[in-house]
Amino acid sequence: MRLSTLLIAALSGVASAAIESVVMKDRHFYTESGKPFFIRGVDYQPGGSAEFEKGHDPLSDINTCARDIYMFQQLGINTIRVYSVDPSLNHDECMTLLAQAGIYLVLDVNTPLQNQHLNNQEPWTTYNPWYLEHVFSVIEVFSGYANTLAFLCGNEVVFEKVSAKTSPNYIKAVVRDMKGYIERHVGRVIPVGYSNADDLNYRISLAKYLECGPEGYIDFFGVNSYQWCGHNTFEGSGYDKLVEDYSDMSIPIFFTEFGCNEVRPREWEEVDALYGNNMTGVFSGGLVYEYSQEANDYGLVDIAKNGQVKTRDDFMSLQKAYAALPKDIKVPSDVKLNKRPATCPPSDDPVFDHITANHTLPWTLGEDMIKKGVADKAKRGKFVTVSTRATNYNIVIDGKVVENKDVKMTVKTSDQKVLSPGGHGQNTGGWDGNTPAADSNTAKTGTETSAAAAVGGQKAIVGSLVAVAVAFGFL
Ligand SMILES: *[C@@H]1O[C@H](CO)[C@@H](O)[C@H](O)[C@H]1NC(C)=O
Ligand SMILES: *[C@@H]1O[C@H](CO)[C@@H](O)[C@H](O)[C@H]1NC(C)=O
Repeated sequence: MRLSTLLIAALSGVASAAIESVVMKDRHFYTESGKPFFIRGVDYQPGGSAEFEKGHDPLSDINTCARDIYMFQQLGINTIRVYSVDPSLNHDECMTLLAQAGIYLVLDVNTPLQNQHLNNQEPWTTYNPWYLEHVFSVIEVFSGYANTLAFLCGNEVVFEKVSAKTSPNYIKAVVRDMKGYIERHVGRVIPVGYSNADDLNYRISLAKYLECGPEGYIDFFGVNSYQWCGHNTFEGSGYDKLVEDYSDMSIPIFFTEFGCNEVRPREWEEVDALYGNNMTGVFSGGLVYEYSQEANDYGLVDIAKNGQVKTRDDFMSLQKAYAALPKDIKVPSDVKLNKRPATCPPSDDPVFDHITANHTLPWTLGEDMIKKGVADKAKRGKFVTVSTRATNYNIVIDGKVVENKDVKMTVKTSDQKVLSPGGHGQNTGGWDGNTPAADSNTAKTGTETSAAAAVGGQKAIVGSLVAVAVAFGFL
């Protein structure tokens, strides 16, 4: 016994910093220790979202991850967004390396493959058990990593008239099911949000629809925005209007995509505005579209066929813009806090113009999986000892070949939290496993909690988590 006591003492000696999970409080994100967390990141799907295939994804190959995480560190980011993953693959090494680099993941649960996304014109044809099995599998795998910041239930599902009529209550149904799964099978609250198309018709209407009611409401709203182009200003770009439009929301909001490419090279003046006092009361930062150069011409780097990565001008200018930001960004003291509407306005309320705000959600088709879990289909991810943190690929930054391509680690250990199954015991808007979802706008007495209260409920569990320090071998 004595020996093992000594061993534990020695281990805890090196277990200095470890990546903390990010939690929601009021309308912002914070680290568990209470530091405001503003998302500074990029969208990351080399090869493009549409080209996704089974058997390979951006977080499944350590050689590629080490290359790109090195680049993320040069850029100075704390978050990436990935659009599509294959939950049957192992992501432990890449997620561990990201955690050790202090980088969080915002993950979409869909792919372009059949049964892995909603058809936005006729969602009832694709909202089925196979689809939900995919979604739950993604959650099952990625909920094992403390640096999974959030899940996105969909990206631009509503984008024109037909989808605006048919899809909104299906989006909410998916959110309800995802939260139901997380509540039952994950030991912490992982926020679930939606990523909205850059379209004035849905900017407010869909945000309001997804925020309200007792069930299937989102925890944060993602905005894809390309409205600040070239040399512009807070007012000239319309960012002022954007902030005004969302100022009465109750939940965190951030850009899930930004970075207009109409004026080249991009100057990233909007970065200054986004992380400044004009916006930080309402916006929690954003994700630049996108890391790799693809057909649509938004890349920060070029990736060659042989795996060599080379910075473009936009990478260097973005690096400069990030470097010029203040080190600690604070939530403004005059932040406007709003209560989440636990009951939705009636469907014909003008706030829902341009969308069909049906407050009745389709009955869940994931009932059994929400009850029993999908652990037999997908393996919960975990942090591991990473054998390599350098890459074999060539890296060229600003025209110069890089020799030491090691990922610098900001933490000396990765702590593997043993997440207790069974959830946090609070209804955060997921399917509660009993009440038929006949009329989701009828508040269920006694179970309604705000996102903030859910975070409070989570605290107790965080305290009881067993933190296992896994010493990382330094050579
Ligand atoms: C903030 O807003 C003010 C007033 O609208 C404007 O003059 C200023 O340039 C803005 N600051 C930034 C960093 O965009
Ligand atoms: C609302 O959605 C439910 C579930 O999909 C559906 O049964 C119902 O017909 C819809 N109501 C309207 C008015 O479209």
